[in-house]
Amino acid sequence: MNNFDFCNPTRIIFGRETVSQLNDVVPADAKVMILFGGSSAEKTGTLDEVRASLGDRAVSEFGGIEPNPTYETLMKAVELIRSKDIDYLLAVGGGSVIDGTKFVAAAVPYEGEPWDILLTGGQHIKSALPFGTVLTLPATGSEMNSGSVVTRRATNDKLPFMHPLVFPKFSILDPTKVYTLPERQVANGVADAFVHVIEQYLTFPQNAMVQDRLAEGLLQTLVGIGPKILADQKNYDLSANLMWSASVALGGMVGTGVRHDWATHMIGHELTALYNIDHARTLAIVLPSLLNVQRKDKAEKLLQFGERVWNITEGTEEARIDQTIDATRNFFESLGISTRLSGYDLGEEVIDAVVKQLEKHGMVTLGEHGNITPDVSRRILVDAL
Ligand code: NZQ
Ligand code: ZN
Repeated sequence: MNNFDFCNPTRIIFGRETVSQLNDVVPADAKVMILFGGSSAEKTGTLDEVRASLGDRAVSEFGGIEPNPTYETLMKAVELIRSKDIDYLLAVGGGSVIDGTKFVAAAVPYEGEPWDILLTGGQHIKSALPFGTVLTLPATGSEMNSGSVVTRRATNDKLPFMHPLVFPKFSILDPTKVYTLPERQVANGVADAFVHVIEQYLTFPQNAMVQDRLAEGLLQTLVGIGPKILADQKNYDLSANLMWSASVALGGMVGTGVRHDWATHMIGHELTALYNIDHARTLAIVLPSLLNVQRKDKAEKLLQFGERVWNITEGTEEARIDQTIDATRNFFESLGISTRLSGYDLGEEVIDAVVKQLEKHGMVTLGEHGNITPDVSRRILVDAL
């Protein structure tokens, strides 16, 4: 195991009817801006709950943050906040609204062009507005981490940044928010959380027994919850376990002290930027093919994953790896998520376009060994046709 320095400062308030606790965790004298997405937060009543809990604080609102939040939209929030002297942000939504709020929090006090935050991965952030979140979609783990992904629509660049200053101060996780999600978003949430664990776990043996067992526990939990919650979405226990799994999946513990992969995500981001495929669906397209192309480098962990998560113990190593990759693909398919580019009416034309984008973004040495070059990414995409 490698040395590590672990701190996750986000306070988690979890359970039914917890939105009312906003009054206790947002400073009484804060000038608050609520940031939200399209129409769901209003329609489901979550915004009304939030407004009521904030009481007589000075509150403004900024709506319209789209799925895969864009720099163009977020900069409008930045201008508004600068002009109104807002000092506290509250994200009400899924990963897109929370990621967008993280960017806005860092961009408001940023000296220079805020797009540089994305171009430098967040390296030069010196301050950020404090913010909390009310999570309405379990998937990304953004509510409990310091990462964010923003898209520049004008150039189709979808880039991540990270900084400790953009950990939320608190996140309110009320599992009943799952009840109103479209089925497609529930499936996306299960798949995204699953792949977050895989990106940190399915590399090579690193003598990280705690992290491995945590990862395997989460993967088994998600495999157990997945199809059940699609059939029974208003089941509180399933929703609660999905919500907590997704937060823990990317809350930092699983990935401490080990090298990660993240190539599936980086290739997936290009598919979203170019073809507007939901984030989780891009992962379901890329992951099984990446595991196949990288099967030698990942052999030991693939066998461990197969045995401990899918109970695959019979056959030669090659056969067990095949079964493990098939089980993973079938899991996504069982959630109603197509795992082939053809399932999204895409074909060979995608390959050059995605590889070109990866090169443009410097994504040329991906994976835990840095050996996923543009040529390997090409092979992965061909395998995914
Ligand atoms: O926009 P509205 O009308 O609010 O509708 C949203 C949106 O259309 C809807 N929704 C959310 N909560 C709802 C609801 N509908 C009904 N009831 C509710 N309770 O769901 C749709 C999708 O929302 P979105 O926030 O886009 O989904 P998700 O949480 O999957 O976030 C995806 C974004 O997160 C990034 C992705 O790249 C993508 O941009 N990621 C962020 C990560 C992080 N910060 O750590 C890691 C991830 O790997 C990922 O890259
Ligand atoms: Zn993800």
